[in-house]
Amino acid sequence: MPVQRLEDSLSAELTALQQSGRAKGRETVFTGVVPAAGGRGPRYLLDGEGDKPFLRMNSNGYLGLAMAPDVVAAEEAAVRAFGSGPGAVRFISGTWAPHTELERRLAAFHGRPAAMVFSSAYAAVMGILPPLITPETVVISDALNHNCIINAIRLAGGAAKQVYPHLDLAALEGHLTAAAGSCRRAIVVTDGIFSMRGDHAALAEIVELARRHDGAFPENVLVVVDDSHGVGAFGETGRGTEEVTGAQADILVATLGKAFGVNGGYVVAGATVIDYLRETSPLYVFSNPIGPGEAAAAAKAVEIVDGPRGGQMLAHLRRMTARFEAGLTAQGLETIPGEHPVVPLMVRDTARTTACVAHLRAHGVLATGLNYPVVPKGDEEIRFQISADHTPLDIDEALAALAGFPT
Ligand SMILES: Cc1ncc(COP(=O)(O)O)c(C=O)c1O
Repeated sequence: MPVQRLEDSLSAELTALQQSGRAKGRETVFTGVVPAAGGRGPRYLLDGEGDKPFLRMNSNGYLGLAMAPDVVAAEEAAVRAFGSGPGAVRFISGTWAPHTELERRLAAFHGRPAAMVFSSAYAAVMGILPPLITPETVVISDALNHNCIINAIRLAGGAAKQVYPHLDLAALEGHLTAAAGSCRRAIVVTDGIFSMRGDHAALAEIVELARRHDGAFPENVLVVVDDSHGVGAFGETGRGTEEVTGAQADILVATLGKAFGVNGGYVVAGATVIDYLRETSPLYVFSNPIGPGEAAAAAKAVEIVDGPRGGQMLAHLRRMTARFEAGLTAQGLETIPGEHPVVPLMVRDTARTTACVAHLRAHGVLATGLNYPVVPKGDEEIRFQISADHTPLDIDEALAALAGFPT
């Protein structure tokens, strides 16, 4: 083998990952979807499990829109009209009518002047933070922010990087005060919804702090929020953490690949910021966008969420989430209460978390165990994600499976 010594080194790293419990391991392969029937939502078939149906409680598809016939039809029609891929990055030849229509809809949905689409929310965050972080910028970031924010800040450099304990606004303000006078620009960046726990940033207070300290920075204090788990899943009309807190970020990032049920990411902001990012963001300038079919499907999904059907789906989602949380509490189990459809079951023990996830799977329920180091020691949990295509029978089935796990 010409690269044997490299492979030996990589194998040692893989073994270390497995031994420390950080390896993701073999992926579940879906081989089919059984449509909703008999008062139950869709069921999923898995490779190696024959025709055993599984209830999926670990999907980010909070509204069940991936299988919505009109979303699928919009994608099909656009693929037939424009082809399956964009053909090139946008400034060369990649902008199709569905991309511009999607951006128009996203800007309107979020009440902003402009929007731009990326291939994913991860790419959006990696694409926008580095061009905005100058050598005279302080970046202030929540300790539980998503990996894309952490890596974007690393890539950018910047004058200073400050991490405040999760949701600790006094610490955030301390960093703003300390950087005043030495940095021209400050960027406060946070997840909207924190996906491990389903809790959210105190956006109104963060924006208020930013405005209060703004005068100390010649190029302002900018609030950037990644609400990939919040948009489409949280708030009366699905506008996420901004809707629930009544505040608006300067720059909002979200995904098209979770509640909207398609794929891709986007940014909404003021027109000058978006114009600047279209010229300077490497993951926009030098990397393909989503395909025109995905753009058309996403535009349809946004239209649905923005209309009465979206309101009904979100109301049902809240009812199913409340039913599941009430069921956990009735069994004497610990959760973090809230309206977001991420419902963590706090197990607080690695072996029990792993055993309970295996028990659920054996009983046809898919949920995700989160152990250290993904979550802090003592916070081991099983993350359940409720979807608008779950029915009361589905929720009760999951609760019954949990009740059968020996205490
Ligand atoms: C806060 C946040 N940002 C970005 C992403 C990634 O989204 P995408 O799959 O569109 O890249 C996630 C997904 O888990 C997320 O939670």
